[in-house]
Formats: sequence, structure tokens, C-alpha cells
Amino acid sequence: MHGGQWELAACMIPRDYGQHQDPLNLLSIKEVIASRKTSKVLAKSPLESDFDQALLESLVATAAYAPFHYMAANSHREKLPDKAPEPWRIYILNRTICREVREWLISRDDRTKVPEMLAASDMLLQVTWCPTTEDGAAGSERFDCYDATQTNMEHIAATAAAIQNIILAATEHEIPNYWSSGGVLREKEIFDLLGIPRDEILLGSVFFFPRNAARNQKVTMVPGKMRERRSHGRTWCHWVEELNMDADSKSTARNVNTIVRMGRN
Ligand SMILES: Cc1cc2nc3c(=O)[nH]c(=O)nc-3n(C[C@H](O)[C@H](O)[C@H](O)COP(=O)(O)O)c2cc1C
Repeated sequence: MHGGQWELAACMIPRDYGQHQDPLNLLSIKEVIASRKTSKVLAKSPLESDFDQALLESLVATAAYAPFHYMAANSHREKLPDKAPEPWRIYILNRTICREVREWLISRDDRTKVPEMLAASDMLLQVTWCPTTEDGAAGSERFDCYDATQTNMEHIAATAAAIQNIILAATEHEIPNYWSSGGVLREKEIFDLLGIPRDEILLGSVFFFPRNAARNQKVTMVPGKMRERRSHGRTWCHWVEELNMDADSKSTARNVNTIVRMGRN
């Protein structure tokens, strides 16, 4: 199953990807970034709206261009036919499989919002990253755990960049999307159900909903909780304007205060 999926993913990337500009696309990359937002779409029963499979696949293909620093460990790479070096894995659930997972959860009396989102989604991505273990412990013994190493930090960072590529591409096409921690979707039983190796760790369950969701009376749309709390970099972004040549803890604190006061945002 995995081999087929990865071959499909490779085929999804046109050789001349990125060479052509869509003349009708008027949004700059900065405008796309600024208009990205979390949209959770909830439906009590499965939606039947039209969707464009090729477009959804083209979103996933943008993950291929995310930066990554370290190769995934051999134990992960060996599972792929081409031993791909990237530290992330993406499991694509089309609308039919989303609905089947919904049924499966309902049959287990799941009362979370996940079945309602699966009733509305056109695609769900289970995006995992591949932890590098220092002690060689088998992944299945350490489900959802990892060593706090720089390598693993950068595997997570690269995987987050891959997810961001995908959700920005969805935003460009006005496809409502939601990057979630997964809730019930990060449990062992779901990994097994979807054929995801237990030595990978979920970084996001990423939902994609119908474009016309906002106009559909049968759904509820919920924004991200932190959206209105953004500070827009007023304090967390600052210029470094002087070097702290004799850095002891006292002078470091003084320098930080100075920098914050001089912030330009
Ligand atoms: C790694 C990650 C995990 C997230 N998990 C959840 C989640 O489990 N539940 C949730 O409501 N929002 C989740 N979010 C979305 C945030 O709530 C959302 O980004 C935030 O509220 C800001 O809103 P915005 O995306 O519309 O700007 C997650 C975002 C990230 C980056």
C-alpha cells in the first residue's frame, strides 16, 4: 500500500512545476500568507458537493519543495521504494476514506468534533515525521515519543514547512483548511487503521473542505481560537542594533530591554 502511494505522490509533481505563472493568479505570496486562516467546517451528515481531485493532489505536491536539513534515519527510509531522504510522510485520505473513518469513529461512540469534520472534508492529510532514535529503541515501543535532539527538532521544523506549503497552496485556491493536532486521529488504533507505521509521529491532521462551505447552510464554520490574539510582531520581532561584547547575565538582561524598547514593529 505504501509503495503505491509514494509512487502516486511522485507522479503528482509535474516536471516543469513552478516554471509557469498562472496569468489569472493576482495574489502575491505575501497576500496568500496574510490571508491564510484556520477554518473548521462541521457537518452533521456527509456533504455531497463537487470537488476537484487533481487540484487537491496539486496541493499535496507542494510539500516536495519544503526545506529539510537532515535525512530521515535508515529505518524509515528503507520502507520507501526510493529510500527518499525527506523526514516527513503524508498519508492522503480522499473523501470516501474520510467518510469511512467517520463511520468507524461513530461506531466506537466517538463524541468529538472529528466525525463532523470528516463528514465535511474533501481530503484529510495525516502528516507524520520520522524521529531519529538515539538508543535504537523500536518505534512501536515508544509510540508518540522522541529524543529531544537537534536532529529531531529540525525534522519537525521541516515537516511543519511542508504542511505550511500545502495550506498556503490551499489558501491560494480558496480551499478552507484546518491544521489540527489530530485529537483522536493521533491514536495508535487510527495509525493501524490507516497503515501508518507506529514509529512515525503525527505533526498534523490537515483537513480540506469544500470551497463553497461558507455558503452552505448545512455546515458550521469555526475559526481558529488564536486568530484574534495575534500580536503581529509588535514585541517578538526586533532589530539587533548593538553587540553585547561582555555578556554576563546582568548585561544580557539590560541589552534585551533596550532592544525591546527600540522595536520597530
Ligand atoms: C501545530 C498546530 C497544531 C494545531 N492544532 C490545533 C488543534 O488541535 N485545535 C485547534 O483548534 N486548532 C489547532 N491549530 C490551529 C490554531 O488554533 C490556529 O492556527 C490559531 O487559532 C490561529 O488561527 P489562524 O490559523 O486562523 O491564524 C493548530 C495549529 C498548529 C500550527
